[in-house]
Amino acid sequence: MNAVLRRLAASGGLEPEEPWIRLSHPGELWERWQSRYGRDSAIKLMEWNNSIPDLGGVPFGAPVEGAPGRYMDGYRYRERAGRLDPASLAGFYVQDEAAALVGRGAAELPGRLVVETCAAPGGKTAHLAVSDALTVSMDRSVERMMQWKANSRRLGWESCMPVIADGSAIPLREADKVIVDAPCTGTGVFRRRNDARWGWSDAHLSECVETQSMLLDASSALVRPGGWLVYSVCSLEPEESFEQAARFERRHEGFRRGCFPAPEVLVRDGMLCIFPPEHRVDGHFAVCWERIA
Ligand SMILES: C[S@@+](CC[C@H](N)C(=O)[O-])C[C@H]1O[C@@H](n2cnc3c(N)ncnc32)[C@H](O)[C@@H]1O
Repeated sequence: MNAVLRRLAASGGLEPEEPWIRLSHPGELWERWQSRYGRDSAIKLMEWNNSIPDLGGVPFGAPVEGAPGRYMDGYRYRERAGRLDPASLAGFYVQDEAAALVGRGAAELPGRLVVETCAAPGGKTAHLAVSDALTVSMDRSVERMMQWKANSRRLGWESCMPVIADGSAIPLREADKVIVDAPCTGTGVFRRRNDARWGWSDAHLSECVETQSMLLDASSALVRPGGWLVYSVCSLEPEESFEQAARFERRHEGFRRGCFPAPEVLVRDGMLCIFPPEHRVDGHFAVCWERIA
């Protein structure tokens, strides 16, 4: 931020018409996105981040009324008008359609013994719980796992076992499928987290990238030959998505990239890549690898 402000000060001060000021975003993000997407798309992204998020989710119990998903069978968009009757949400997990696509895609890949290393509060667990897998749902945060537990009780996740542990020391030997829904800068979900944009910094990005690499390396050791590793983030930043995936592939030749199960229009080079202003859902990234050696 300081560098941007210094440059602006030197050039005669803040221009009120600067898009990042008008649309209330940090200057660093504007510069980053403008150089990657071009001016118009970067503005569209900031406008998207300032829009009111949709309310929707997946009914895991009785059918729920609502408009159908843009991409996913069974997804339902609800009206935001008035107060929601809690009874109408029984069995319903509220989440963005993109998050639901990641959860369902991860659940569709084969595997009877599944480990999620970053499970709380359970957005992906909700999908694993209705598959025929036995799932170990791990997270290092007690507070967030308490939310997982509340969701588990509400939705009856009988085949999912909660564990509080750090992803660097997974207390298991082998699994058919390991899912790393990693901590990230969250630039794909700023529409839902109004303050998160102000937490952006290069230092935070580097910290996230390092944690993600560590979690990927530790998780990969658990995947049995023929099993699957899934990595996902709700970030648009290449360092946390494509580049993280490419670095993993260079370090782990025994893993071959598969095609993430999701609608074709959202998949590039086998990876789920969502750009919110274009696809009209939150920005998520997901990639899967099969262990071949
Ligand atoms: C993106 S969130 C997971 C969201 C969850 N999968 C869902 O769909 O609801 C990332 C999670 O990683 C957890 N986390 C961060 N660092 C971790 C680590 N070293 N080991 C295990 N969990 C970690 C955080 O507590 C947080 O709950």
